[in-house]
Amino acid sequence: MIARPIIIDCDTGQDDAIMLLLACAAPDELDILGVTAVAGNVPLPLTERNARLMCALAGRTDIPVFAGCSRPMVRDLVTAEEVHGRTGIDGYDVDQPKVPLQQKHGVDFIVETLMAAADDSVTLVPTGPLTNIAMALVREPRIVPKINEIVLMGGAAREGGNTTPSAEFNIYVDPHAAHVVFTCGRPIVAMGLDVTHKTLTTKARLAAIGAIGTPVGNAAHSMLEFYDRHDIEKYGTDGGPLHDPCTIAYLLEPGLFKTKHVYVEVEIHSERTMGETMVDFWGVTKRPPNAHWAQEIDADGFYHMLTERLARL
Ligand code: RIB
Ligand code: CA
Repeated sequence: MIARPIIIDCDTGQDDAIMLLLACAAPDELDILGVTAVAGNVPLPLTERNARLMCALAGRTDIPVFAGCSRPMVRDLVTAEEVHGRTGIDGYDVDQPKVPLQQKHGVDFIVETLMAAADDSVTLVPTGPLTNIAMALVREPRIVPKINEIVLMGGAAREGGNTTPSAEFNIYVDPHAAHVVFTCGRPIVAMGLDVTHKTLTTKARLAAIGAIGTPVGNAAHSMLEFYDRHDIEKYGTDGGPLHDPCTIAYLLEPGLFKTKHVYVEVEIHSERTMGETMVDFWGVTKRPPNAHWAQEIDADGFYHMLTERLARL
């Protein structure tokens, strides 16, 4: 098997952190060319630091980490410390990462890596606001044919928004970037709240992660314990949704998911519904589908795979 080349772009909060650990635990399947950090859950100095901490924790000091954009393309930055804590990965107390930050800007890394790649060869995995991806597309349109697929976490349709009644956080923070990405013409798989809200870290699933008993398992357990408390109170569910690892899980086991090929458009005009992902489930717009929208997940299969993989690190 040839490992699939990917670039991960994240706003490293706890769920991005678990996503990174899962990706690092799949070296045979995924060739992580690099990780680019973007401002989102917390400001950029923390999201890049957190990404470096997770690569070091996973023993993957081979993975270069880059800092990308520190604010959205047009709007002011909105962060989510109320969910993720001051550092973004509260629950994990290590302070200084052993992995150095690369000096190159994250957008330059994305552009240069794609320009050097073959057509249709690199998969982009963004799990934060889409600022870095959009800036790369605007900066160098010739990267478009190099992209094999964009497997992103973002958006909401039947589940409603988590940041406004109509918008999910990643899309809300930088709706203009999301518009650029959803109109770029390359295949998109969208892991929105419609599916991530079916991926709850229940007490039993959290206990299974805690039972791994390794430094990675312990770190994942304590980060999720902190991260879950906000959403358990907000949604009144047994556990909070685990958003970002759904992207890597899709790359590893796409059969865990049910998706529908639909037309998706991002609201960038109305302040009231800014960042809404309008999903045309029934083709009423007659616009060509531009995204595979995840609707269902085998949540038990997902957590079994996640727990087994984390135990490998
Ligand atoms: O709405 C959930 C998304 O916003 C996740 O990616 C979370 O990490 C935040 O970035
Ligand atoms: Ca994220």
